Amino acid sequence: MKTKEKLFLKRITNRKEPIVCLTAYSKNIAIIVDEFADIILVGDSLGPVIYGYDSTRDVSLDMMINHGKAVVRNSKKAIVIVDMPFGSYEHSKYEALKNAKLILKETGAFGVKVEGGNEISETIKYLVKNQVNVMGHIGMLPQKIKNGLFRVYGESEKEKKKIKNDAESIVSSGIFAVVIEATKETLVREIIKDISIPTIGIGASSECSGQVLVTEDILGMTNFNAKFIKKYSDLNKVIKSSIKKFACDVKSKKYPQKKHLY
Ligand code: KIV
Repeated sequence: MKTKEKLFLKRITNRKEPIVCLTAYSKNIAIIVDEFADIILVGDSLGPVIYGYDSTRDVSLDMMINHGKAVVRNSKKAIVIVDMPFGSYEHSKYEALKNAKLILKETGAFGVKVEGGNEISETIKYLVKNQVNVMGHIGMLPQKIKNGLFRVYGESEKEKKKIKNDAESIVSSGIFAVVIEATKETLVREIIKDISIPTIGIGASSECSGQVLVTEDILGMTNFNAKFIKKYSDLNKVIKSSIKKFACDVKSKKYPQKKHLY
């Protein structure tokens, strides 16, 4: 592991201040997020957010690699994690390693994120043994959702037990951090008191080591309305107003003026 990576792991594992994590898929957002975030996630949420897919299940390895490259190239300070897309790691640990290594080699990212618990713990162990930094993801697993119906996880006793067991299993497989999504807060608190690695919440608990949100959600560029989203601006409104003004200027011949011409 490179010195920068070692230092990062030490810093996020030992520190008291909450970890800031945001998504980025492109150059312009990466440059801004990099100033304020500790971790930039090139999430497969890019499927619904920028490609207009109904779910993250249609995202390909090539998409993750291309967006990962753009983000790594345009971030200096934060550590970049790239999501392994649906279908790229579940079938066999050998295929998972081949795809993880390809993502890391092509993008230069720090590590990859995979969704799931016990069922992928052997794969995680294999990736970690082969020098891949792995971030886990438990609770709501968007890659498992086919119908777009999001809900809160960990309400029934059976589900609570499963999520706790998943957390234990992937932590012991060697993940360096874990995202916990849309999960009952009481359960999240129980989980995080038992594990020593950083926990990154999204609709989880303020007691997590850090928080993650999709940048386009906080900017008001999507219409995804989960309870955990805090909207800090209404960029859609700003963009719409600017586009409308441009269209009016073109139609009324107010644009271009002399100063715009050669
Ligand atoms: O794909 C993604 O953006 C994510 C975060 C929401 C955690 O997995």
